[in-house]
Amino acid sequence: MATVIERAPARARRRQTRYRIAVLPGDGIGPEVVAEGVRVLRAVGERFGRRFELEEHVVGGAAIDAYGVPLRPETVEACRRSHAVLLGAVGGPKWDDPRAAVRPEQAVLGLRKALKLYANLRPVKLIDALIAVSTFKPEVIRGVDLIFVRELTGGTYFAQPKKVWSTPRGLKAVDTCLYTEQEVERALRVGFELARARRKLLHCVDKVNVMATSRLWRQVAERVKGDYPDVTFKYILADACAMHLTRRPTDFDVLVTDNLFGDLLTDEAAMLAGSLGMLPSASLGAGKLGLYEPIHGSAPDIAGQGIANPLGTILSVALLLRLSLGLSDEANAVEVAVERVLERGLRTIDLARPGERTASTSEMGTAVADEVARG
Ligand code: IPM
Ligand code: MG
Repeated sequence: MATVIERAPARARRRQTRYRIAVLPGDGIGPEVVAEGVRVLRAVGERFGRRFELEEHVVGGAAIDAYGVPLRPETVEACRRSHAVLLGAVGGPKWDDPRAAVRPEQAVLGLRKALKLYANLRPVKLIDALIAVSTFKPEVIRGVDLIFVRELTGGTYFAQPKKVWSTPRGLKAVDTCLYTEQEVERALRVGFELARARRKLLHCVDKVNVMATSRLWRQVAERVKGDYPDVTFKYILADACAMHLTRRPTDFDVLVTDNLFGDLLTDEAAMLAGSLGMLPSASLGAGKLGLYEPIHGSAPDIAGQGIANPLGTILSVALLLRLSLGLSDEANAVEVAVERVLERGLRTIDLARPGERTASTSEMGTAVADEVARG
Protein backbone atom coordinates (compact mmCIF):
# COMPACT_ATOMS: atom_id res chain seq x y z
CA MET A 1 0.00 0.00 0.00
CA ALA A 2 2.76 2.39 1.03
CA THR A 3 4.65 1.73 -2.20
CA VAL A 4 1.58 2.45 -4.26
CA ILE A 5 1.07 5.75 -2.50
CA GLU A 6 4.74 6.66 -2.89
CA ARG A 7 4.86 5.82 -6.55
CA ALA A 8 1.63 7.50 -7.54
CA PRO A 9 2.90 11.09 -7.72
CA ALA A 10 5.90 10.13 -9.92
CA ARG A 11 3.67 8.32 -12.35
CA ALA A 12 1.11 11.07 -12.28
CA ARG A 13 3.84 13.60 -13.07
CA ARG A 14 4.90 11.82 -16.22
CA ARG A 15 1.42 11.45 -17.67
CA GLN A 16 0.06 14.67 -16.34
CA THR A 17 -2.29 16.71 -18.47
CA ARG A 18 -2.03 20.40 -17.89
CA TYR A 19 -5.42 22.00 -17.56
CA ARG A 20 -5.41 25.62 -18.59
CA ILE A 21 -8.02 27.70 -16.84
CA ALA A 22 -8.69 31.37 -17.50
CA VAL A 23 -9.67 33.10 -14.27
CA LEU A 24 -11.72 36.30 -14.53
CA PRO A 25 -12.48 37.70 -11.06
CA GLY A 26 -14.33 40.81 -12.29
CA ASP A 27 -15.94 43.32 -9.92
CA GLY A 28 -17.59 43.62 -6.53
CA ILE A 29 -17.54 40.34 -4.64
CA GLY A 30 -16.25 38.61 -7.80
CA PRO A 31 -12.56 38.63 -6.74
CA GLU A 32 -13.46 37.51 -3.20
CA VAL A 33 -15.46 34.46 -4.25
CA VAL A 34 -13.12 33.54 -7.10
CA ALA A 35 -10.17 33.49 -4.67
CA GLU A 36 -12.02 30.76 -2.75
CA GLY A 37 -12.88 28.85 -5.92
CA VAL A 38 -9.18 28.90 -6.79
CA ARG A 39 -8.25 27.77 -3.27
CA VAL A 40 -10.53 24.75 -3.67
CA LEU A 41 -9.17 24.05 -7.16
CA ARG A 42 -5.65 23.98 -5.76
CA ALA A 43 -6.75 21.58 -3.03
CA VAL A 44 -8.21 19.33 -5.76
CA GLY A 45 -4.91 19.54 -7.66
CA GLU A 46 -2.93 18.47 -4.60
CA ARG A 47 -5.20 15.65 -3.61
CA PHE A 48 -5.67 14.13 -7.06
CA GLY A 49 -2.28 15.02 -8.55
CA ARG A 50 -3.72 17.32 -11.21
CA ARG A 51 -1.97 20.29 -12.68
CA PHE A 52 -4.07 23.39 -13.16
CA GLU A 53 -2.48 26.35 -14.87
CA LEU A 54 -4.38 29.46 -13.98
CA GLU A 55 -4.17 32.66 -15.97
CA GLU A 56 -5.91 35.70 -14.55
CA HIS A 57 -7.49 38.45 -16.68
CA VAL A 58 -9.24 41.71 -15.91
CA VAL A 59 -12.88 42.02 -17.10
CA GLY A 60 -15.94 44.18 -16.46
CA GLY A 61 -15.76 47.49 -14.64
CA ALA A 62 -12.17 46.77 -13.63
CA ALA A 63 -11.25 46.48 -17.32
CA ILE A 64 -13.14 49.69 -18.14
CA ASP A 65 -11.00 51.46 -15.53
CA ALA A 66 -7.75 49.89 -16.70
CA TYR A 67 -8.25 49.74 -20.48
CA GLY A 68 -11.43 51.66 -21.33
CA VAL A 69 -13.25 48.51 -22.49
CA PRO A 70 -15.02 45.80 -20.46
CA LEU A 71 -13.59 42.90 -22.47
CA ARG A 72 -10.31 42.99 -24.40
CA PRO A 73 -9.77 40.82 -27.50
CA GLU A 74 -6.66 39.38 -25.76
CA THR A 75 -8.90 38.14 -22.96
CA VAL A 76 -11.27 36.45 -25.38
CA GLU A 77 -8.27 34.81 -27.08
CA ALA A 78 -6.88 33.63 -23.74
CA CYS A 79 -10.27 32.08 -22.92
CA ARG A 80 -10.35 30.35 -26.32
CA ARG A 81 -6.92 28.83 -25.61
CA SER A 82 -8.11 27.48 -22.25
CA HIS A 83 -9.89 24.30 -21.28
CA ALA A 84 -12.32 26.29 -19.14
CA VAL A 85 -13.08 29.77 -17.84
CA LEU A 86 -13.92 30.66 -14.22
CA LEU A 87 -15.70 33.98 -13.82
CA GLY A 88 -16.71 35.88 -10.67
CA ALA A 89 -19.13 38.68 -11.51
CA VAL A 90 -19.17 42.05 -13.22
CA GLY A 91 -20.83 45.40 -12.60
CA GLY A 92 -21.26 48.02 -9.91
CA PRO A 93 -22.66 51.49 -9.21
CA LYS A 94 -19.47 53.16 -10.42
CA TRP A 95 -20.22 52.13 -14.01
CA ASP A 96 -24.02 52.31 -13.82
CA ASP A 97 -24.72 55.50 -15.76
CA PRO A 98 -27.64 54.48 -18.01
CA ARG A 99 -26.24 56.68 -20.82
CA ALA A 100 -22.78 55.07 -20.75
CA ALA A 101 -21.73 53.43 -24.01
CA VAL A 102 -19.48 50.92 -22.25
CA ARG A 103 -20.93 48.79 -19.48
CA PRO A 104 -19.32 46.03 -17.37
CA GLU A 105 -22.10 43.56 -18.31
CA GLN A 106 -20.86 43.69 -21.90
CA ALA A 107 -17.92 41.58 -20.72
CA VAL A 108 -20.00 38.61 -19.72
CA LEU A 109 -22.45 38.97 -22.60
CA GLY A 110 -19.54 39.44 -25.01
CA LEU A 111 -17.73 36.36 -23.72
CA ARG A 112 -20.82 34.17 -23.94
CA LYS A 113 -21.35 35.32 -27.50
CA ALA A 114 -17.70 35.19 -28.63
CA LEU A 115 -17.20 31.70 -27.21
CA LYS A 116 -20.60 30.59 -28.64
CA LEU A 117 -21.78 29.33 -25.26
CA TYR A 118 -25.44 28.97 -26.06
CA ALA A 119 -26.60 26.69 -23.26
CA ASN A 120 -26.51 27.87 -19.68
CA LEU A 121 -27.06 25.10 -17.14
CA ARG A 122 -28.25 26.23 -13.73
CA PRO A 123 -28.77 23.36 -11.30
CA VAL A 124 -30.93 24.09 -8.26
CA LYS A 125 -30.38 21.39 -5.68
CA LEU A 126 -31.32 21.77 -2.07
CA ILE A 127 -28.59 20.54 0.24
CA ASP A 128 -30.36 18.86 3.16
CA ALA A 129 -28.44 20.83 5.77
CA LEU A 130 -29.97 24.05 4.40
CA ILE A 131 -33.61 23.01 4.60
CA ALA A 132 -34.25 25.29 7.57
CA VAL A 133 -32.35 28.18 5.98
CA SER A 134 -34.72 28.66 3.07
CA THR A 135 -37.64 31.04 3.35
CA PHE A 136 -39.84 28.20 2.07
CA LYS A 137 -41.57 25.61 4.23
CA PRO A 138 -39.53 22.40 4.55
CA GLU A 139 -42.36 20.26 3.17
CA VAL A 140 -42.42 22.37 0.00
CA ILE A 141 -38.72 22.22 -0.79
CA ARG A 142 -37.63 18.84 0.55
CA GLY A 143 -36.09 16.95 -2.39
CA VAL A 144 -35.77 19.93 -4.75
CA ASP A 145 -33.37 18.91 -7.51
CA LEU A 146 -34.01 20.61 -10.80
CA ILE A 147 -31.97 22.15 -13.56
CA PHE A 148 -32.59 25.03 -15.91
CA VAL A 149 -31.28 25.19 -19.44
CA ARG A 150 -31.28 28.89 -20.24
CA GLU A 151 -30.68 29.79 -23.88
CA LEU A 152 -27.75 32.20 -23.58
CA THR A 153 -26.74 33.84 -26.83
CA GLY A 154 -30.02 34.87 -28.42
CA GLY A 155 -33.34 36.50 -27.63
CA THR A 156 -33.87 39.87 -25.98
CA TYR A 157 -30.28 40.11 -24.76
CA PHE A 158 -28.70 40.31 -28.19
CA ALA A 159 -31.22 41.08 -30.94
CA GLN A 160 -31.21 44.43 -32.71
CA PRO A 161 -32.64 47.02 -32.69
CA LYS A 162 -31.98 47.73 -29.04
CA LYS A 163 -31.85 51.43 -28.27
CA VAL A 164 -33.27 54.52 -26.58
CA TRP A 165 -33.89 57.57 -28.79
CA SER A 166 -35.62 60.92 -28.56
CA THR A 167 -38.60 61.94 -30.61
CA PRO A 168 -40.51 65.26 -30.67
CA ARG A 169 -43.00 63.60 -28.30
CA GLY A 170 -40.36 62.41 -25.85
CA LEU A 171 -38.03 59.45 -25.42
CA LYS A 172 -38.69 56.03 -26.92
CA ALA A 173 -36.91 52.73 -26.47
CA VAL A 174 -36.97 49.35 -28.11
CA ASP A 175 -35.67 45.87 -27.31
CA THR A 176 -36.03 43.13 -29.84
CA CYS A 177 -36.57 39.45 -29.14
CA LEU A 178 -35.40 37.33 -32.05
CA TYR A 179 -34.73 33.61 -32.35
CA THR A 180 -33.80 31.42 -35.27
CA GLU A 181 -34.98 27.87 -35.63
CA GLN A 182 -31.38 26.63 -35.22
CA GLU A 183 -30.86 28.55 -31.98
CA VAL A 184 -34.05 27.12 -30.54
CA GLU A 185 -33.35 23.59 -31.67
CA ARG A 186 -29.88 23.34 -30.12
CA ALA A 187 -31.13 24.70 -26.78
CA LEU A 188 -34.08 22.31 -26.77
CA ARG A 189 -31.81 19.36 -27.56
CA VAL A 190 -29.62 20.17 -24.56
CA GLY A 191 -32.81 20.08 -22.47
CA PHE A 192 -33.94 16.75 -23.92
CA GLU A 193 -30.51 15.13 -23.53
CA LEU A 194 -30.27 16.26 -19.91
CA ALA A 195 -33.80 15.07 -19.20
CA ARG A 196 -32.92 11.70 -20.69
CA ALA A 197 -30.01 11.36 -18.24
CA ARG A 198 -32.22 12.34 -15.28
CA ARG A 199 -35.93 11.86 -14.49
CA LYS A 200 -36.98 12.00 -18.17
CA LEU A 201 -39.19 15.01 -17.61
CA LEU A 202 -38.77 18.26 -19.54
CA HIS A 203 -40.75 21.50 -19.25
CA CYS A 204 -40.44 24.12 -21.97
CA VAL A 205 -41.17 27.57 -20.49
CA ASP A 206 -42.56 30.33 -22.74
CA LYS A 207 -45.22 33.01 -23.26
CA VAL A 208 -46.94 31.50 -26.26
CA ASN A 209 -50.07 33.51 -25.51
CA VAL A 210 -48.25 36.76 -26.43
CA MET A 211 -44.91 36.16 -28.09
CA ALA A 212 -44.14 35.11 -31.63
CA THR A 213 -40.76 33.73 -30.56
CA SER A 214 -42.59 31.43 -28.15
CA ARG A 215 -44.68 30.15 -31.04
CA LEU A 216 -41.45 29.40 -32.89
CA TRP A 217 -40.08 27.55 -29.82
CA ARG A 218 -43.22 25.39 -29.76
CA GLN A 219 -43.12 24.72 -33.48
CA VAL A 220 -39.52 23.55 -33.26
CA ALA A 221 -40.23 21.57 -30.07
CA GLU A 222 -43.07 19.68 -31.76
CA ARG A 223 -40.59 18.43 -34.36
CA VAL A 224 -37.63 17.77 -32.04
CA LYS A 225 -39.59 15.92 -29.36
CA GLY A 226 -40.13 13.04 -31.79
CA ASP A 227 -36.46 12.13 -31.28
CA TYR A 228 -37.00 11.73 -27.53
CA PRO A 229 -40.07 9.51 -27.09
CA ASP A 230 -38.75 8.38 -23.70
CA VAL A 231 -38.94 11.94 -22.29
CA THR A 232 -42.21 13.31 -20.93
CA PHE A 233 -42.44 16.76 -22.49
CA LYS A 234 -44.67 19.59 -21.25
CA TYR A 235 -45.17 23.27 -22.00
CA ILE A 236 -45.71 25.81 -19.24
CA LEU A 237 -46.26 29.56 -19.44
CA ALA A 238 -43.48 31.58 -17.83
CA ASP A 239 -45.76 33.40 -15.40
CA ALA A 240 -47.41 30.16 -14.29
CA CYS A 241 -43.97 28.58 -13.98
CA ALA A 242 -42.84 31.40 -11.66
CA MET A 243 -45.79 30.62 -9.41
CA HIS A 244 -45.54 26.85 -9.66
CA LEU A 245 -41.86 26.91 -8.71
CA THR A 246 -42.83 28.25 -5.30
CA ARG A 247 -45.82 25.96 -4.89
CA ARG A 248 -44.65 22.50 -5.96
CA PRO A 249 -41.01 22.81 -7.05
CA THR A 250 -40.42 19.06 -6.92
CA ASP A 251 -42.79 18.70 -9.90
CA PHE A 252 -39.93 19.98 -12.06
CA ASP A 253 -36.81 18.24 -13.23
CA VAL A 254 -35.35 19.87 -16.37
CA LEU A 255 -36.68 23.22 -17.61
CA VAL A 256 -35.63 24.77 -20.90
CA THR A 257 -36.33 28.40 -21.68
CA ASP A 258 -35.18 31.54 -23.45
CA ASN A 259 -32.52 33.96 -22.30
CA LEU A 260 -34.70 36.49 -20.45
CA PHE A 261 -37.14 34.07 -18.77
CA GLY A 262 -34.15 31.94 -17.76
CA ASP A 263 -32.45 34.89 -16.09
CA LEU A 264 -35.53 35.77 -14.05
CA LEU A 265 -36.67 32.28 -13.12
CA THR A 266 -33.25 31.10 -11.95
CA ASP A 267 -32.90 33.94 -9.43
CA GLU A 268 -36.31 32.96 -8.12
CA ALA A 269 -35.48 29.25 -8.08
CA ALA A 270 -32.22 29.94 -6.21
CA MET A 271 -34.25 30.64 -3.10
CA LEU A 272 -35.39 27.02 -3.12
CA ALA A 273 -31.75 26.13 -2.43
CA GLY A 274 -31.56 28.55 0.49
CA SER A 275 -29.76 31.51 -1.05
CA LEU A 276 -28.81 33.11 -4.35
CA GLY A 277 -25.23 32.61 -3.15
CA MET A 278 -25.53 28.84 -3.51
CA LEU A 279 -26.18 28.63 -7.24
CA PRO A 280 -23.49 27.67 -9.74
CA SER A 281 -23.76 27.74 -13.50
CA ALA A 282 -22.11 26.28 -16.57
CA SER A 283 -22.29 27.90 -20.00
CA LEU A 284 -21.57 25.47 -22.77
CA GLY A 285 -21.37 25.41 -26.55
CA ALA A 286 -20.55 22.81 -29.15
CA GLY A 287 -17.10 21.86 -27.77
CA LYS A 288 -15.69 21.14 -24.31
CA LEU A 289 -14.82 24.73 -23.46
CA GLY A 290 -17.16 26.14 -20.86
CA LEU A 291 -17.60 29.28 -18.78
CA TYR A 292 -18.38 28.72 -15.12
CA GLU A 293 -19.78 31.36 -12.82
CA PRO A 294 -22.03 31.78 -9.80
CA ILE A 295 -25.37 33.27 -10.81
CA HIS A 296 -25.45 35.92 -8.07
CA GLY A 297 -23.72 38.91 -9.61
CA SER A 298 -21.28 41.41 -8.12
CA ALA A 299 -23.31 42.40 -4.99
CA PRO A 300 -21.67 45.85 -4.58
CA ASP A 301 -23.52 46.39 -1.28
CA ILE A 302 -21.40 43.75 0.46
CA ALA A 303 -18.23 43.92 -1.65
CA GLY A 304 -14.92 44.32 0.19
CA GLN A 305 -16.29 43.08 3.52
CA GLY A 306 -15.23 39.45 3.18
CA ILE A 307 -18.73 38.18 3.95
CA ALA A 308 -19.95 36.92 0.56
CA ASN A 309 -20.91 33.28 0.15
CA PRO A 310 -18.27 31.59 -2.04
CA LEU A 311 -20.21 28.32 -2.43
CA GLY A 312 -21.88 29.29 -5.74
CA THR A 313 -18.37 29.75 -7.17
CA ILE A 314 -17.00 26.63 -5.51
CA LEU A 315 -19.89 24.58 -6.90
CA SER A 316 -19.17 26.18 -10.29
CA VAL A 317 -15.63 24.81 -9.96
CA ALA A 318 -17.19 21.36 -9.47
CA LEU A 319 -19.17 21.80 -12.71
CA LEU A 320 -15.99 22.98 -14.47
CA LEU A 321 -14.12 19.86 -13.35
CA ARG A 322 -16.94 17.56 -14.47
CA LEU A 323 -18.13 19.16 -17.70
CA SER A 324 -15.05 20.76 -19.29
CA LEU A 325 -12.21 18.66 -17.84
CA GLY A 326 -14.05 15.33 -17.52
CA LEU A 327 -12.82 14.92 -13.91
CA SER A 328 -15.91 13.55 -12.20
CA ASP A 329 -14.22 12.10 -9.09
CA GLU A 330 -12.69 15.51 -8.47
CA ALA A 331 -16.06 17.23 -9.05
CA ASN A 332 -17.81 14.85 -6.66
CA ALA A 333 -15.12 15.49 -4.04
CA VAL A 334 -15.83 19.23 -4.17
CA GLU A 335 -19.60 18.74 -3.91
CA VAL A 336 -19.25 16.34 -1.00
CA ALA A 337 -16.91 18.78 0.74
CA VAL A 338 -19.50 21.56 0.41
CA GLU A 339 -22.19 19.32 1.89
CA ARG A 340 -19.92 18.38 4.79
CA VAL A 341 -19.04 21.92 5.81
CA LEU A 342 -22.73 22.84 5.70
CA GLU A 343 -23.63 19.77 7.78
CA ARG A 344 -21.05 20.92 10.32
CA GLY A 345 -23.06 24.13 10.61
CA LEU A 346 -20.75 26.59 8.86
CA ARG A 347 -22.83 29.51 7.52
CA THR A 348 -21.99 32.65 5.62
CA ILE A 349 -24.22 35.60 6.46
CA ASP A 350 -26.79 34.85 3.73
CA LEU A 351 -27.31 31.37 5.19
CA ALA A 352 -27.27 32.28 8.87
CA ARG A 353 -30.34 32.58 11.02
CA PRO A 354 -30.60 35.34 13.61
CA GLY A 355 -28.06 34.89 16.37
CA GLU A 356 -26.08 32.24 14.49
CA ARG A 357 -22.32 32.67 14.19
CA THR A 358 -21.31 33.56 10.64
CA ALA A 359 -18.26 32.47 8.69
CA SER A 360 -16.32 34.86 6.47
CA THR A 361 -15.83 34.20 2.76
CA SER A 362 -12.32 32.88 3.32
CA GLU A 363 -13.28 30.77 6.34
CA MET A 364 -15.91 29.07 4.23
CA GLY A 365 -13.54 28.57 1.29
CA THR A 366 -10.76 27.27 3.54
CA ALA A 367 -13.14 24.84 5.24
CA VAL A 368 -14.19 23.39 1.87
CA ALA A 369 -10.57 23.21 0.65
CA ASP A 370 -9.51 21.42 3.89
CA GLU A 371 -12.38 19.01 3.48
CA VAL A 372 -11.32 18.28 -0.11
CA ALA A 373 -7.73 17.74 1.07
CA ARG A 374 -8.88 15.37 3.78
CA GLY A 375 -10.98 13.33 1.35
C1 IPM B 1 -26.79 36.37 -14.92
C2 IPM B 1 -26.64 37.86 -14.78
C3 IPM B 1 -26.29 38.44 -16.14
C4 IPM B 1 -27.44 38.10 -17.07
C5 IPM B 1 -26.02 39.95 -16.15
C6 IPM B 1 -24.85 40.30 -15.27
C7 IPM B 1 -25.81 40.47 -17.54
O1 IPM B 1 -27.81 38.40 -14.24
O2 IPM B 1 -25.82 35.70 -15.34
O3 IPM B 1 -27.85 35.84 -14.59
O4 IPM B 1 -28.49 38.73 -17.00
O5 IPM B 1 -27.27 37.17 -17.84
MG1 MG C 1 -29.21 36.94 -13.54
